[in-house]
Amino acid sequence: MRKVGLALALSLSLGFAHEHMQESNLTFKQVMQMVNMSAIKMLQGFLLNNDGLIVEGAKEIADHPMPQGGPLKYIDTSKREEFIRLMPTFERQVHGGAEDVIRFIKEGKKEEAFKTYTQMIQGCMACHELFRDRIRGR
Ligand code: HEC
Repeated sequence: MRKVGLALALSLSLGFAHEHMQESNLTFKQVMQMVNMSAIKMLQGFLLNNDGLIVEGAKEIADHPMPQGGPLKYIDTSKREEFIRLMPTFERQVHGGAEDVIRFIKEGKKEEAFKTYTQMIQGCMACHELFRDRIRGR
């Protein structure tokens, strides 16, 4: 019962933040490897002054696929409650950040875009500090 409740809470919180998210047949780790390439693509775009590259990477992060079976099953049972509680914050920081970067680039505000990019990366790092290496079934 408890498990079902947690899964429901997570799918609700994810559902609100992420109504376009598509479940895929990728593992959590594979999704991470994808967003990692996208984050590097964005950095390259800033370094090369290539707005197209920045927006391309940001879109990939904003629309990244959901790991097969949803993220929760990859998180150690002892950390699941915390994950559910903190997930919306990371969603805002990372997905919201990627969307803000796209908007700032379209408005020609490169500096704001870069500042938002660094905050987005801090979201990646904050989640890793809490949940990386605590994953089962790699
Ligand atoms: C909601 C939490 C969360 C967020 C946000 C997050 N990650 Fe992760 N990330 C994880 C977890 C958990 C793992 C460990 C996955 C595994 O080993 O199965 C991981 C693993 C990784 C890895 C290692 C993959 C490998 O091959 O071992 C990379 C690279 C990575 N993340 C990049 C990123 C980037 C870039 C972002 C931001 C755009 C990001 N992550 C955002 C939770 C998160």
